[in-house]
Amino acid sequence: MKLFFNMASPFVRKVRVFARETGLDKNIEEITTMVSPVQENPALAQANPLKKIPALTLDDGTTVFDSPVICEYLDSLHSGRKLFPATGPARWTALRLQATGDGILDAGVLCRYEMAVRPKEFQWAGWIAGQKTKWHGGLDLLEREAAALAGEPTIGGVTVACTLGWLDFRYGDDDWRKGRPKLAAWYEKFSARPSMKATMPQA
Ligand code: BEZ
Repeated sequence: MKLFFNMASPFVRKVRVFARETGLDKNIEEITTMVSPVQENPALAQANPLKKIPALTLDDGTTVFDSPVICEYLDSLHSGRKLFPATGPARWTALRLQATGDGILDAGVLCRYEMAVRPKEFQWAGWIAGQKTKWHGGLDLLEREAAALAGEPTIGGVTVACTLGWLDFRYGDDDWRKGRPKLAAWYEKFSARPSMKATMPQA
């Protein structure tokens, strides 16, 4: 399997952490891939016409995307403890946590594009502020429901940890830990896992 990846994307990091937690990382060849909304990348576009990473090309040539689908695909390949609980409340808790982390990232990445890619004269402060209320609301939800993160890792915990790591990486001055002690304590423990240490974000 070939993973289109880079070291900055938190969505890619989800897949890389997931692969390590499930022992599948050795089966994945990583292809460094630059993505930009304003620059073409023909190799990526051929594999994933949506031009997004992560994208995982299987040995039969099919490409699987996006990060939730890739992770669930990887979970189907191993016979250990599943990180996507199969049924019942545990499944919906894990998927809801994943959706919360991914939603925070969606808002954060949109802001980053607005601030780092869009020419200054076109940037819209009100729009950036609106996105920030979304990600702060998601973080508050995670603080209220931090108990759901306890226990063995699931796709929910992997996603939330990669989200918080990316906020530290790109928005270090916007202190997500402030007023969220339970989430901060959970993250400190989770981020000591070898899978997290091996995949620290890099520009
Ligand atoms: C980043 O550079 O922070 C980034 C890259 C790809 C996807 C999302 C974020």
